[in-house]
Amino acid sequence: MKKSALVLTDVEKGYLNKYTQKKDTVLNKVSLTASLGEVTVLMGQSGCGKSTLFRILIGEEMPDAGHIEILAENVSPPHYRNIEMVKKRFGLLFQNGALFNSMTVGDNIAFPILEHQPQLHAGIVDIMVDTKLRQVELEPENYKYKMPSTLSGGERKRVGLARALALDPQLIFCDEPSAGLDPIVSRTIDKLIKDLVTVLGIAAVVVTHELDSAFSIADRMVLLKRAVPEHEDAWDGTVVYDDGTPEDIKNSCKPYTVEFLGEFSQNSLCLSCRTVQKKNFSVCEKCGKVRHIFPLFLPPVK
Ligand SMILES: Nc1ncnc2c1ncn2[C@@H]1O[C@H](COP(=O)(O)OP(=O)(O)OP(=O)(O)O)[C@@H](O)[C@H]1O
Ligand SMILES: [Mg+2]
Repeated sequence: MKKSALVLTDVEKGYLNKYTQKKDTVLNKVSLTASLGEVTVLMGQSGCGKSTLFRILIGEEMPDAGHIEILAENVSPPHYRNIEMVKKRFGLLFQNGALFNSMTVGDNIAFPILEHQPQLHAGIVDIMVDTKLRQVELEPENYKYKMPSTLSGGERKRVGLARALALDPQLIFCDEPSAGLDPIVSRTIDKLIKDLVTVLGIAAVVVTHELDSAFSIADRMVLLKRAVPEHEDAWDGTVVYDDGTPEDIKNSCKPYTVEFLGEFSQNSLCLSCRTVQKKNFSVCEKCGKVRHIFPLFLPPVK
């Protein structure tokens, strides 16, 4: 049995709507787990509450209700302040790297180390910084003295990752790690995260929109879904709609999973009656409508 790094049970979060003076539910009883040695990917449409969940997990916003355990520490609402103690045991990789632009790469990585252990000798900190740069496959002598503004997008991500690993965390949270990168660099960053998780035996929770990145990195996938008016959903707020290994998700017969994955799914969805069918069906077995296929090549305009 894999050891859990993160356990969420029935987490709720809403915001007061100043117009109606009622609370709008964003997260509705969200439950999920993330294990050590695995990458857990959180996916969901824009506005479903991924960032809200992320803010709760990193200690920026208190949930309204539910149970949260991070690295075996209870940080549920009455004990949410405990998150301050857990913070040095998890690392954060933000979308743009969130580096301090006025500090060198080396100082950026040394920052969290010195914040938690200000008494450490400069020589030791220097060795720790070099080790972290090597872990993300950057040569310390070439990068340590550079300023963040001179780095490429991929290098910034690597330095952000080195900083996230600075305190040897057991858990890292990554927000859209491959956003804004070209496909080749994006694949190398994904591979780096995956390899680090395997080699170091830590857990990673990755929020991403990009399905090819999600499938290349995930050991487990969690699909969030908020009510979609066209689907005539009755529920209030976002729920965990589907959850499993990448294979489970690809083969899932749940209509929204099939719709969200598109070509990545092993199934297809009838857009008329929303019945899940086998891949590339031609006529829906339920409503008899012909599958709508977008033309790959439009006829030349004369
Ligand atoms: N502080 C806040 N006050 C009021 N509403 C908020 C607040 N933060 C988020 N929301 C609302 O919560 C919902 C979820 O927002 P969130 O930013 O978490 O979505 P997301 O899944 O991260 O979207 P995206 O993929 O576009 O980044 C949105 O409807 C948003 O308007
Ligand atoms: Mg967001």
